[in-house]
Amino acid sequence: MGENIEKLKEHLRRISKFESAVSLLHWDLETYMPKNASNKRAEIIGEIAGYAFKEFTSEKTHELLQKAESEAQTIEDKALIRVTKKEYEKSKKIPPELFIEFQIETSKAQKAWENAKNEDNYKLFEPHLEKIVTLSREIADHLGYEENRYDALLDNYEPGIKTKELLNIIPKLRNSLINLLEKIENADKPKKDILNGKFEISKQKILSEYILKKLNYDFKSGRLDLSEHPFTITISHNDVRITTKYDENDIKKGLFGTIHECGHALYELGIPENLRGLPIGDGASMGIHESQSRFWENIIGRSLSFWKYFYPKLTEIFPHFSNIPLKEFWRGINTVEKSLIRVEADEVTYNLHIMLRFEIEESLINDKIKVSDLPDVWNKKMEEYIGIKPNSYKDGVLQDIHWAHGTFGYFPSYMLGNLYAAQIFNTIQKDLPNIESKIENGEFIDILNWLREKIHSKGKIYEPQDLIYQVTGERLNPNYFVDYLNSKYAKVYNL
Ligand code: CO
Repeated sequence: MGENIEKLKEHLRRISKFESAVSLLHWDLETYMPKNASNKRAEIIGEIAGYAFKEFTSEKTHELLQKAESEAQTIEDKALIRVTKKEYEKSKKIPPELFIEFQIETSKAQKAWENAKNEDNYKLFEPHLEKIVTLSREIADHLGYEENRYDALLDNYEPGIKTKELLNIIPKLRNSLINLLEKIENADKPKKDILNGKFEISKQKILSEYILKKLNYDFKSGRLDLSEHPFTITISHNDVRITTKYDENDIKKGLFGTIHECGHALYELGIPENLRGLPIGDGASMGIHESQSRFWENIIGRSLSFWKYFYPKLTEIFPHFSNIPLKEFWRGINTVEKSLIRVEADEVTYNLHIMLRFEIEESLINDKIKVSDLPDVWNKKMEEYIGIKPNSYKDGVLQDIHWAHGTFGYFPSYMLGNLYAAQIFNTIQKDLPNIESKIENGEFIDILNWLREKIHSKGKIYEPQDLIYQVTGERLNPNYFVDYLNSKYAKVYNL
């Protein structure tokens, strides 16, 4: 028995309890907190989170890690040592002054970004972004990398994958997507106004809860609330909450937003209790996390089989749809459109939006383009990849908050999530040959159990590429995504 391993686990689990408290305070802040409490709340969260961080980066963690290392025998314990050590060392590599400066600059930048977006004036944000890019480069240099400075930042979200790999897969993937987009442009389009209408919020809520229950989201281990931006948050084992946002004029937003978050929540709920509270009791990466949400939202939730089951319920709640044939509704929720805004993008164009952002980030971090040239670079790439150009900054370079947050390296997770999801789906179809009829009958438990066994139960024990290899028999392969889209959209658009 590893006595020191047990001590290390106890130490880490204790720290995670403070993090649980922070999560709950944060959830409350985003949902029910009285507005006037925001300043105090930020202070309280800062204090507790700061304490947890100090405990984690303390000499005690270092000592326990050193003593426990030789005791690690099982795959889990070895992973625990590897992941904890990596996080510990990372936190030590960045000088505290730099860390604090980064926190201050990014919180200033968020306000500046909001302002710049409202005023549609890039110049208001430019000096802040300049600063954040400079600091991010410094942070990357402290973290260290072998080939590409961007690797250091990418590793924060998708451990193990390299910039080179992304740069390699993108050109072919981009061409495939642009080809498909062109075919769709020339095809006969679904009726655009088919989904128009007024959708009472209280009824949308009933629909969302109904679908969540059918997808096996357990309301005894979670809840559904409203927030400005939908999110999933884990408070502790058996407490994983989701939020959504309804739009009276657009049923798609609340509906697919809810299913998306449900995918994240099912992942979190599937992480075993014995891993919880440890650095390996988490999703494997942001990309794998996003693969789970996109899987349920798009591959399952926007499939014809799914709606064969749910359409009667939908028309019962919104009789409006009783005049619309199921097939037309399904085409309506899968409409492909060249659009300026990433968060509104469909399955075909979404990754093009991400590639553009990734290429810009990579160039910025490596000093290949200037922050002042960003709007021009953005517009040029939009025209090249999607074929349209924004007329304003807010529909272009200022649309996302990510750079104000300083989360360089995050965007690729969205693309990877889509690619992983299709690759995983390909394997599920082989393992569960009757998957389609199960979906048509509203039976999702086999699919969930498959994901739980192969992915959720593994937590963060494996790096994403190793996990994907174990699950699908190969490393990341974007062809599955391209095949999935080509076959789906051939049907949606009668190509
Ligand atoms: Co997500």
